[in-house]
Amino acid sequence: MTVATVAFPSMQSIPVRLNHSSYDILVGAGVAVEVEKHLSQAGLCEPFLVISQPRILNAVGKGLKKKFAVESIPDGERAKSLTTVSRLLDRMVKLNLTRQSTVIAFGGGVVGDVAGFVASIYMRGISVVQIPTTLLAQVDSSIGGKTGVNHRAAKNLIGTFHQPRLVLSDPLVLETLPDREYASGLYEALKYGVIRDPALFEEFERNTSMLRNRDPEAVERLVARCAAIKADVVMSDEKESGLRRILNFGHTVGHGLEAAARYQRIKHGEAVGYGMVAAARIGRALDKIENHDVRRIENAIASIGRLPLLNGVRSKDVLGAIQHDKKVRDGAIHFVLPRAIGQVEVTPDVPFEMVREVVKGILNDGKRLFRTG
Ligand SMILES: NC(=O)c1ccc[n+]([C@@H]2O[C@H](COP(=O)([O-])OP(=O)(O)OC[C@H]3O[C@@H](n4cnc5c(N)ncnc54)[C@H](O)[C@@H]3O)[C@@H](O)[C@H]2O)c1
Ligand SMILES: [Zn+2]
Repeated sequence: MTVATVAFPSMQSIPVRLNHSSYDILVGAGVAVEVEKHLSQAGLCEPFLVISQPRILNAVGKGLKKKFAVESIPDGERAKSLTTVSRLLDRMVKLNLTRQSTVIAFGGGVVGDVAGFVASIYMRGISVVQIPTTLLAQVDSSIGGKTGVNHRAAKNLIGTFHQPRLVLSDPLVLETLPDREYASGLYEALKYGVIRDPALFEEFERNTSMLRNRDPEAVERLVARCAAIKADVVMSDEKESGLRRILNFGHTVGHGLEAAARYQRIKHGEAVGYGMVAAARIGRALDKIENHDVRRIENAIASIGRLPLLNGVRSKDVLGAIQHDKKVRDGAIHFVLPRAIGQVEVTPDVPFEMVREVVKGILNDGKRLFRTG
């Protein structure tokens, strides 16, 4: 992993080298403004189609709207559907997009997943460039090539692996992001500290207020660091047959919470916040991690901001969703458990009774403990 670090303002280029594709993640203030230069340096040329959402286009997309054809999809998780895909494909046919065309995904994880998916199936696959506009998308979803939409049976059930040709992560576009969305990305970013990087974790402990206040330099450093870790993990396991699973730290219980709250009250990153607490407590119950480190993890999560209340979320629904996920997907629940700050292990051997206890504890705490504001 090579990351050139120069004083702010600067641009860092993080290479992702895979068997069948290679691309760069460019992180820096202004990279999204100079989009044409970066597209041409990546060997991409007209015609381009930008896929985004009205809210994002109004907030930070005026420049792009002047330069390219733009198509909007509705806001929210519900837009990750085959209906949206079908509408976009109609539009792409109407615009006569060819195999040489490039889709530009300008948005958060929802836009990135849908736009990546349509790019992967139109004419058996055309190029996609990701310009992530949420912190969560900059540190996670824009990198690694997972695309897809939801099915009523499960989230992200229909999808492909389709790597982008370029990722442009510009911290300036995050300025208009609502506070809750920004915090949601911080939880996902903290994940990288726990799974791989004690120094990153300590940055959260030391500089919480700089991160919370979106200090431009701190945000840029954070995005670059997380992107480099994700790139590194994806490079050693592109299709998630081994190491890449560590990125699911906090996601088993997290997904259960999201599903139990019907993807409405809890944001993805917030669910991962709770899910990381759950995984740390399971690790402690199995004697895999010291209590001191569990407390550090819980404190770091609480210091990011207030997690949403969990009143009304029923443990039966959370546990049911975890079981359902297991049935639909891998047949076993793989837990990513922390052993220390910066080190995790993946195990299918967690007694369900223990998961039940921990989930009940989290739901109980969710009525008060993590409501720090
Ligand atoms: N493909 C992957 O590897 C991967 C990884 C993690 C998450 N995901 C997916 O990502 C999705 C969640 O993504 P998300 O958290 O980015 O949510 P999101 O895409 O729904 O965006 C959150 C909200 O912020 C708004 N917004 C985005 N950028 C903005 C800006 N700059 N200014 C103002 N408003 C802005 C959006 O319109 C939306 O209302 C989930 O569907 C999840 O499954 C995918
Ligand atoms: Zn996630």
